[in-house]
Amino acid sequence: MGVALGEYVLQLIAADKTERTTLITDDVNRPQITPQQYEVLHGGGAEAAEIAKERLSRRRFLRRSMLAVWGLSTTAAVAGSLYMLYPNLAGQFGSALNVGKKADFTAAKPSDFKIGQAGVFYRQEAKTYVMHLAKDTQFLLNGSNLSDQLDAESVVKDSDGSYWIALYQRCVHLGCTVPFRDNCVSFKCPCHGSHYNVTGEFLDGPAPRSLDRFALSFNGEDVVVDTATLNNKVPHPDQTTRLIAPPSVACSV
Ligand code: FES
Repeated sequence: MGVALGEYVLQLIAADKTERTTLITDDVNRPQITPQQYEVLHGGGAEAAEIAKERLSRRRFLRRSMLAVWGLSTTAAVAGSLYMLYPNLAGQFGSALNVGKKADFTAAKPSDFKIGQAGVFYRQEAKTYVMHLAKDTQFLLNGSNLSDQLDAESVVKDSDGSYWIALYQRCVHLGCTVPFRDNCVSFKCPCHGSHYNVTGEFLDGPAPRSLDRFALSFNGEDVVVDTATLNNKVPHPDQTTRLIAPPSVACSV
């Protein structure tokens, strides 16, 4: 009898504890209900189950709505950031541009270059001079020294033996556009006189390095200049790195 009474008391305590826990959870997590609903709910039965179900589905709906709003906001924020970081420049300066067919760019020896006719062609959309040197161009280097220097200066050797360079039009001194001068077969900046060879190599003037150049490649017979990929690390050449001899004709002022 004593043992049975003890067990009964323990069961009552456990039941009370469970009920209190339920009520606490109720208070914190559940939306407010009317006093009538409260009475029916705690009275049990089918109506209570129906109310409980309704409250549960409303809570799920609210949670899912909040998650959906949060997800949409996050997606929009990430998309906005990516657009700012990587604007869509397809087909514009700042992307890879098809600048014409290989046949549009007649190759020539450096001494024979003429703008728009032989060896040097301007492409406004890419702000680039496409240089096409004949395969029998005389370089000052040879062997691995030549191939290493061609790589360092982003000069592309074509399958027919000719050489291509995409020179950025911007003077590396203070940014003026550099014109090509047929009369002295070289680039001469009108602003402060920086002077560059047909390969873009520095000749004289205040420029701190040689002209910058873009990556150039071929897509079949198309010539592609990637204006998003700039090599701006070609220093003043010296005897061990200069590719082409300076032009024999001086530029008149
Ligand atoms: S901007 Fe070309 S030399 Fe100064």
